[in-house]
Amino acid sequence: MNGELELLKEEIGAFLTASMEEVDGFRLKYLGKKGVLTCMFDNIRNIAPEDRKEFGKDVNDLKNSVLEKVEHLKQTIENSKKHTVEMLDLSRPASSISLGSRHPISVVNRKICKVFEKIGFTVSEGPEIEDDWHNFEALNFPPEHPARDMQDTFFVEKNPDIALRTHTSSIQVRVMENGPPPIRVICPGRVFRNEVVTARSHCIFHQIEGLYIDKNVSFADMKQTLLHFAKEMFGSHVKIRLRPSYFPFTEPSAEMDISCDICGGKGCNLCKYSGWVEILGCGMVDPNVLKNTNINPDQYSGYAFGMGIERITQQLYKTKDIRLFFENDIRFLSQFRAV
Ligand code: PHE
Repeated sequence: MNGELELLKEEIGAFLTASMEEVDGFRLKYLGKKGVLTCMFDNIRNIAPEDRKEFGKDVNDLKNSVLEKVEHLKQTIENSKKHTVEMLDLSRPASSISLGSRHPISVVNRKICKVFEKIGFTVSEGPEIEDDWHNFEALNFPPEHPARDMQDTFFVEKNPDIALRTHTSSIQVRVMENGPPPIRVICPGRVFRNEVVTARSHCIFHQIEGLYIDKNVSFADMKQTLLHFAKEMFGSHVKIRLRPSYFPFTEPSAEMDISCDICGGKGCNLCKYSGWVEILGCGMVDPNVLKNTNINPDQYSGYAFGMGIERITQQLYKTKDIRLFFENDIRFLSQFRAV
């Protein structure tokens, strides 16, 4: 076999395709009217007579190998088509699309908002970068109060008047400044404190503040509202207790505990063997705060409360490390479903 025929033989042997059109193209390329092998047969008279017989045989062999190859490829393509149709199980459910999930803090934030919205509160928000007036001064913080200290507050560009809000009570001031009572709002938001990050505390966290101002609002109104909230949030079996406390902007002030969900009040390591878990601070709005926001304390009274959303979330889902909420590890986050 001469070199040219050898090359053709290799070319034919190497051809592969999965398409019928290409198989046809392949056949025409060699055996069509102007095909490579057809032309060779036509030109056989130009071959030296002594070589003619061998040349004719070689070209004929190539022709046969093209025909065989065409047959083989057609068969394979047919078979694979049949195979796919047989293998298709049209009753199989489609592969599922994995949906994202809400962040647990958002889930709980919404749940808390819903509880209060149902009893007439509306949601208000405010800026995360606050001035001293809204974050401290109007809220009756004396100038030497430790919360104003550099160690607790993140100041913006060393300006002692501008800081990242340390609590959502700053929104309370803005709402009171904005309109006359009756006021019934809840204010969710992110707050910042210059604290060391540990399993129990973080420099960023979320709070929800509640505020109700009207004529004749009493401490009993507050207690009943908070009891309702605790039952909606943790179940109707839950008990609350109020302990005296201190906040510059409320008088009297209290902290509210709920009975521990894990031990049912008997005492366990989650509630530090007390049977109670602290979940929020509250109190009657100090008359000085009302005055600062142009509300007449002789006419109006009100209560305020504030809670950490992380704390409530930890209590609801029994998560122990607050840092998990900020790491965005998908294995942790995907366990929470919207409610
Ligand atoms: N602002 C308080 C805190 O950050 C919580 C609070 C709000 C207490 C309203 C009483 C009334 O701890």
